[in-house]
Amino acid sequence: MMKPRLWQIEWHDGMSVGIPEIDEDHQRFASLINDFNRLILDRKDLGEIRKSLQSVMDDAAQHFAHEEKLFDQWQYPDADDHANQHAQVLAAFQEIMKRFVTYGLESEWIEAGLEVKDLLISHLVNEDMKYAKFYRNSQVGASLCMQTSASPSCLLPSTGSSDEQYRSDDLAGYREE
Ligand SMILES: [Fe+2]
Ligand SMILES: [Fe+2]
Repeated sequence: MMKPRLWQIEWHDGMSVGIPEIDEDHQRFASLINDFNRLILDRKDLGEIRKSLQSVMDDAAQHFAHEEKLFDQWQYPDADDHANQHAQVLAAFQEIMKRFVTYGLESEWIEAGLEVKDLLISHLVNEDMKYAKFYRNSQVGASLCMQTSASPSCLLPSTGSSDEQYRSDDLAGYREE
């Protein structure tokens, strides 16, 4: 038997990428998705549900552009890959929006709502956490280089810390919920 999937996203510290302006985006994004799922569960009319999904999509586009702007500033090496993932998430949202015209069964609507939620969570866990790690390491690297003046080790990527381990365990736990 399939595990029941929770529709509601509850923000917790394990979801933080450690960059306040992005966490803020993610929290807003999550709450828009919660609103969308709430409308489906409350069996609101199609127009309202579509409008809510449109807000999710608009917010996603804005948020993705925000991240990509930061990638430029950080010279993040996986920026292209990540932008590709963003395009795929947006395309998946578009697909769901198109399907909404023909949805008949309530279970299909609920499924679509969960799909939207899962798209966000899996992007956050699998993709955004990669730049969170890069960002953390580059911060640590930068402060070490300031203390020791420019030594060759400043050019080396720093290794993972137990803090990272903690974070990924935490998120793995979240995914299991
Ligand atoms: Fe992203
Ligand atoms: Fe993100």
